[in-house]
Amino acid sequence: MARRVLENSRILLTGASRGIGRHLALELARQKSRLLVVARNSLELDKLVSELKSQGAASAEALAGDVTDPAIRKAIVERVRSDWKYLDVLINNAGVSAHGRFAGHEEQVLRQIMEVNFYAPTELTRLALPLLDGGQDSLIVNIGSILGHRGMPHNSEYSASKFALRGWSEALRTELHSRGIEVLVVSPGTTDTEFFDHLLAKSDSLPWGKQKGIPPEAVARQVVRAMQLRRTEIYPNWRGRLLVAVNRWVPKLVDRIMNRFG
Ligand SMILES: NC(=O)c1ccc[n+]([C@@H]2O[C@H](COP(=O)([O-])OP(=O)(O)OC[C@H]3O[C@@H](n4cnc5c(N)ncnc54)[C@H](OP(=O)(O)O)[C@@H]3O)[C@@H](O)[C@H]2O)c1
Repeated sequence: MARRVLENSRILLTGASRGIGRHLALELARQKSRLLVVARNSLELDKLVSELKSQGAASAEALAGDVTDPAIRKAIVERVRSDWKYLDVLINNAGVSAHGRFAGHEEQVLRQIMEVNFYAPTELTRLALPLLDGGQDSLIVNIGSILGHRGMPHNSEYSASKFALRGWSEALRTELHSRGIEVLVVSPGTTDTEFFDHLLAKSDSLPWGKQKGIPPEAVARQVVRAMQLRRTEIYPNWRGRLLVAVNRWVPKLVDRIMNRFG
């Protein structure tokens, strides 16, 4: 099949105020896409919108709000409908985590992580599907994680949310195949963003210390390329990809290594 053309594509992107989402928006602006960017920080979104326009976006608008709020999700989809009528690409990127042992965390940590990382993208997608049905070459991009392939100690809630997102994406891809809507799952490894400064809880420091990540610009470039090339799954960080491969072939070895950190 031909490469996906992103010029003039109507793209809705969550979690755009910083990090991977911000760089993804800039990369898509250079492709001359039309963008509606979402996050809670309206100041950062407004700054981003000016940058997107100067980088070449066919249009750029922001909507500030919390994606865990059903009324905000409804407002986002209504905005898409009134501005564009249909939607070509939905990118579910907003995400949060927590560090510490499961037993040491309150129930609320798990619930909130599932709200942001799983229920928000799934329910936003449910609302957006009728608009994607009318879109051109429609695509859903879900930003998962390497921890959606291999559970890690001190990241149990986050791992659970990203496994859930990946399982749902896989099932959805098959359900949407006949409707002509594609699904891409992106599984980044550690990325140098402010992600680790915005944890919902931090009852322990990670025993393996701070990992060197890859720049969010590199993740953004790989995501855009994967969108164009119609990939279904990518692993932007080679270390993460290696972990997934080793875990597939010798899971007991990875278990033994993880047990030392548990
Ligand atoms: N950084 C990593 O090492 C890494 C690795 C693997 C996967 N990922 C995934 O990549 C995605 C982006 O992460 P990042 O590294 O770019 O993190 P980040 O710099 O912390 O950015 C997260 C974005 O999500 C938004 N967000 C968080 N909660 C929200 C909510 N309730 N409603 C609306 N927006 C919300 C934040 O904006 P506001 O605060 O303004 O709302 C921000 O724009 C996430 O799904 C994350 O799980 C990251």
